Amino acid sequence: MGIQRIESVIYRVDDLAECVRFFEDFGLDPVERDETRAVFATLAGQTFHLDTSPRDDLPPPLEPGPTIREVVWGVDTAAELDALVAAVGADREVRLGDDGVHHTVDETGFGLGLTLAGENGHEPAVPRAVNTTGHVTRWNTGLSSVGKVRPLRMCHVALNIPKEGREEAVGFYTERLGFIPTDVVKPMGVFMRCEGDADQHNFLLCHRPDRAGANHVSFEVPGFDDVIEGGNHMIAQGWQEARRLGRHTIGSNVFRFIHAPCGGRVEYAADMDRVDDAYGTRVHETAPPHHIWTLRTSREKNNDN
Ligand SMILES: [Fe+2]
Repeated sequence: MGIQRIESVIYRVDDLAECVRFFEDFGLDPVERDETRAVFATLAGQTFHLDTSPRDDLPPPLEPGPTIREVVWGVDTAAELDALVAAVGADREVRLGDDGVHHTVDETGFGLGLTLAGENGHEPAVPRAVNTTGHVTRWNTGLSSVGKVRPLRMCHVALNIPKEGREEAVGFYTERLGFIPTDVVKPMGVFMRCEGDADQHNFLLCHRPDRAGANHVSFEVPGFDDVIEGGNHMIAQGWQEARRLGRHTIGSNVFRFIHAPCGGRVEYAADMDRVDDAYGTRVHETAPPHHIWTLRTSREKNNDN
């Protein structure tokens, strides 16, 4: 089958304590911490690395300041892993690290890793019972806060790339690593999914900013309440929201974005479209609207998104 999921994301950060506070507030589980680095995990066991002095064999950073330095993808079998390593190694060095990850670089210059996918460590998420007249599933009980929001998994990564060379940047992932383009938005970027996942996208290469760097990492939470309560908690802890609550057009997920001190933004996401091969590749000559809706309120003067 090939690539199943995002396995790890590695950031180089300046203020480790601030980043740790951010991701503890965000709801990730801390698994390692020392003077120079911290590692967090999703419930699915993917790891999120914050490092003040990352490995010196990483490719050079693509933008100043804290940013994404490497994305590691998890593969289902050793045979598939060998085949993908051979495919990317045709014209570039691939080094097997002590961590069991084959490290290399993509066409843009982002660090890229390939390794065996870890076990999904959590029970399936059970969505909240919902009542609609004619379809009542919750009797004799009320709802309460979802409590501490805990992301189930990293569901997608979005990287900014320059316009020049964008076709080669995308082609590297589709032709050598088996990514399937789901929505090609010509003025903006290419949404892709990996072979082993049904999310409408696991990966976005966005050329609209015309520069390379971190765009966002998205974390799936069980439902709409988690997206709202998670964002509210982050705001209450003093973090800055980057967009209003809304629902995307492409992928249909409900979203909330928060500016992250590790670079770029992070997203709480729920209810994304799931697709299979029947979805095909949808080519958009013009960019569809960014969202179906965003939250509006008449209590504030500025209702821009
Ligand atoms: Fe996203």
